[in-house]
Amino acid sequence: MLPCLLLLYMAVAGVFAIAMPNIPTPATIQSREDTPRYVTAHFMVGIVENYTISDWKEDMQLAKEIGIDAFALNCAKIDSYTPTQLANAYAAANETGFKVFISFDFAYWTNGDTAEITSYMQKYSAHPAQFQYNGAALVSTFVGDSFNWTPVKAATSHPIFAVPNMQDPNAATYATTGIDGVFSWYAWPTDGGNSIISGPMTTIWDDRFIKALGDKVYMAPVSPWFSTHFNTKNWVFICEEQITVRWEQMLTMKPGLVEIISWNDYGESHYIGPYSAHHSDDGSAQWAKGFPHDAWRIISKPYIAAYKAGATTPVVDSDKLVYWYRPTPKGVACTKDPLGAPNGIEMLSDSIFVTTLLTTPGTLTVTSGSKGPVSVDVPAGIVTTNFSMGVGGQKFELTRGGAVVLGGAGGLEVNDQCDFYNFNVYVGSF
Ligand SMILES: *[C@@H]1O[C@H](CO)[C@@H](O)[C@H](O)[C@H]1NC(C)=O
Ligand SMILES: *[C@@H]1O[C@H](CO)[C@@H](O)[C@H](O)[C@H]1NC(C)=O
Ligand SMILES: *[C@@H]1O[C@H](CO)[C@@H](O)[C@H](O)[C@H]1NC(C)=O
Repeated sequence: MLPCLLLLYMAVAGVFAIAMPNIPTPATIQSREDTPRYVTAHFMVGIVENYTISDWKEDMQLAKEIGIDAFALNCAKIDSYTPTQLANAYAAANETGFKVFISFDFAYWTNGDTAEITSYMQKYSAHPAQFQYNGAALVSTFVGDSFNWTPVKAATSHPIFAVPNMQDPNAATYATTGIDGVFSWYAWPTDGGNSIISGPMTTIWDDRFIKALGDKVYMAPVSPWFSTHFNTKNWVFICEEQITVRWEQMLTMKPGLVEIISWNDYGESHYIGPYSAHHSDDGSAQWAKGFPHDAWRIISKPYIAAYKAGATTPVVDSDKLVYWYRPTPKGVACTKDPLGAPNGIEMLSDSIFVTTLLTTPGTLTVTSGSKGPVSVDVPAGIVTTNFSMGVGGQKFELTRGGAVVLGGAGGLEVNDQCDFYNFNVYVGSF
C-alpha cells in the first residue's frame, strides 16, 4: 500500500500508477490491511424523484446509526430530477453529519459525457458533505469500465479519487483511465456476467481484483440477498446465509472500502434500509412491500464496527435474534404470474435462516410450520443457523438453562399457495 500522501499526490497531479505485475499468492482470502477503512451503501436516486431533504435525512440518520459513512448516489443522466435530488442529498448529508458521493450509472451515461460529469464533480467535489478518501473526492460508477477520468481530474479544482466499477479484473492492471481503485459488482455467487451458480459466496472475484489492483484501492461489495422479478430480468442469486458469510470475509480481507449493495434497491431485493414512504414504485412493490429488511442492519452494525477496527471478530453487547425466510417453498406454482418463476430457484434451499447475536451461549429452538421444534446449541458471538422450512407459522425461541431469553412468532406465514412468484425474504428480529 502506498502511503496516503503519495496517493494524494497522484490524484492531485493527475498522474497514475504504473500497472503492477501479478504477484503469485496462496489460494486464501487476499488481505489488504488498508487504512483507513470506510463503509458506504448504494443508494438508488432513480426511485426518489419526490424525496424531500427530510426524507433524505431519515435514511442518512439510520445509516449513520450502524456506522455507514456515506451513500453512493447511483444516478442516471436521463432522470430530470437528478440535479435536484443530488442537491437535496448533499444538503441533507451536510445537516446530518453524513457523507455522499456520486456513482454514475453507465447504463445511462456514456464515455462521451466527460463535460457533464466534470461539471458535477466541479460542483460537488469540495462540498462539505462530499465523501473524501485520502483528501480527494471519491467518485464511482456502475459499469462505465472504460470511462476516462484523467480529463475530469484535470478540469476539476479539487482532487478526485476515481473508484469506478470494472467487470474484468485484469483490466485494472492496464487501465490508463486515471483510476485510483476499482469497485466490484460481483456481490453474489457467479461465474461472471449474470450467471447463477451455487452458493455460498466465495472471494474468488475479490482475490482477482486485489491481485490486479496492486497498490490501488479495492472497494468490495457486500450484499445480503438478490432476487428480481421484472419482465426484463427475472432471476435469483444463491446467497442465503450470505450476510454473515460475506461480512466474515471482509474481516479477513480488510479492503480500504466496502460498498453495501444496497440501501434501497427494492427491485433487486437487497435493500437494508427501510421501505421508505416516499420512494416511487418501479413495480417492485409486488415483492418488496410488506417484506422489511431492517433487521439486517442489526447484524451489519457490529460487523461494520469490527471491520473498521481491524478486528477479526465482531463484538456483541446484547442478545438478539434475526431471522429471514421466503414466503413460499420453491416448488409452489404461482397461479396468476405471467412471467414464470425466476431463473436459478432450483439451487435455493427451502430453509429458515436465523442469526443469533449472543453475549453467552444459548439454545435456539425453531418450529417451522407443521414440522416439530428443532433445537440447536449456539455459541456466543454472531452465528447463522438454518432450519428446514415448513408451511405455516414460524416460531423462534432462545433459551438459557431452560429459561426463555427472547423469541416469538415470525412476522409472516409460509404459504403453499401464491399469485405471484416472490423470492424476496421477510426479515425480522427479537
Ligand atoms: C453546511 O452546513 C453548515 C452548517 O449548518 C452551513 O453553514 C453551510 O452553509 C452548509 N453548506 C452547504 C454547502 O450547504
Ligand atoms: C412526484 O410528484 C409529482 C408532482 O406532485 C407527481 O406528478 C409525480 O407523479 C410524482 N412522482 C412519483 C414517482 O411519485
Ligand atoms: C445450512 O447449514 C449447514 C450446516 O452449517 C450448511 O452446511 C449449509 O450450507 C447451510 N445451508 C444453506 C442453504 O446455507
